[in-house]
Amino acid sequence: MDSTPDAWAAADTYLADTLVGHDPALEAALEAQRAAGLPEIEVAPVGGKLLSVLTRMSGARRVLEIGTLGGYSTIWLARAVGPEGHVVTIEAEAGNAAVARASIDAAGVGDRVEIRIGRGEQVLPTIEGPFDLVFIDADKESNTIYLDWAARLGHPGTVIVLDNIGREGEIVRDDTTDSKVIGTRDGLRMLGEDPRFDATALQTVGVKGWDGVAIALVV
Ligand code: DHB
Ligand code: MG
Repeated sequence: MDSTPDAWAAADTYLADTLVGHDPALEAALEAQRAAGLPEIEVAPVGGKLLSVLTRMSGARRVLEIGTLGGYSTIWLARAVGPEGHVVTIEAEAGNAAVARASIDAAGVGDRVEIRIGRGEQVLPTIEGPFDLVFIDADKESNTIYLDWAARLGHPGTVIVLDNIGREGEIVRDDTTDSKVIGTRDGLRMLGEDPRFDATALQTVGVKGWDGVAIALVV
């Protein structure tokens, strides 16, 4: 096989079919998101399952998500924390939050999910921790602010997942003017330099192109 974006997407779809399978609630959430005209930038199915597996591996019960969008990743996280768990998710756009609320409720995990509407920078100082896992998937320009809050609202052992660290390889450009790439590079530098974190990153190829996630531990 030639390594092309189409081949990556086909292999990713195969992995999702094999490891995730048909999931009516998640598919309905994606359909509602599409129907409402939200951007189709949710995590891939295998990425959602990665969040679930990390949540369960770490035994996380209190999860913070920054960037709800249509609630697709939120449903993965809410299922993973179990019936005694809790997810707080922050969404800047009230319209997105309404779509997410309906999909999360329809998925049967609404009682575990609190959606806080507002920009992360404004909402985070009003949120009470601690959180066992933090998923950061919002405006990339604010990554360092979100990582700082993740550390402050976390505890030793808190897992942090930072989405979209690959950006089609643009992360190597130290002269970039793309604010999302600058924000991504700033976040990665913080994860490397700030002694509160111990981090690694995985590049991914698939239905979302060439991208990746950073996975960090609060030490
Ligand atoms: C973008 C944001 C995301 O969270 C994502 O997963 C993919 C792309 C973006 O803003 O470009
Ligand atoms: Mg993302």
